[in-house]
Amino acid sequence: MLSRVGPWKKFSPAPPENNSLAGINPYIKQTEVALPTRPYRITFLSRETGESRVIEIDPVRLPFQRTGRPGSILDIALGHDIEMEHTCGGVCACATCHSIVRSGLASCNEATEDEEDQLEEAPGLTIQSRLSCQCVPDGSMDVVVEIPAWNRNAVKETPH
Ligand code: FES
Repeated sequence: MLSRVGPWKKFSPAPPENNSLAGINPYIKQTEVALPTRPYRITFLSRETGESRVIEIDPVRLPFQRTGRPGSILDIALGHDIEMEHTCGGVCACATCHSIVRSGLASCNEATEDEEDQLEEAPGLTIQSRLSCQCVPDGSMDVVVEIPAWNRNAVKETPH
């Protein structure tokens, strides 16, 4: 005979801090990330166009928008109208936001195994490669990021 246990409680997870899931993939392990506490400078270089842009980061203004981890390279880029692909929405589930941190990599959080797994799919991988949505500089030094020419959304470019 089956005994009834109930009534069932409705599952309602606590809302995340600041009510945002930006940059968070609930299916992978999350790590702590140090956000900057002082201003720093980040330079974006476009391999495709040869252009560069320098942005002064004021920590009190983070995050700049809701895609990617708060304070991440992707957060900064999109918040300043710098085009950068982000097919999975900035949750470490693709490799389209691949960028190369040419300088200042030591000030960024360490890549997780999940990030490294995704990066293996990125063309032109280098030892300085990161997923822009997961890479968060701590502001202890200036950072130079190269946006590779191959950083394109293959899904969008496939003809239908
Ligand atoms: S946008 Fe998909 S991993 Fe960064």
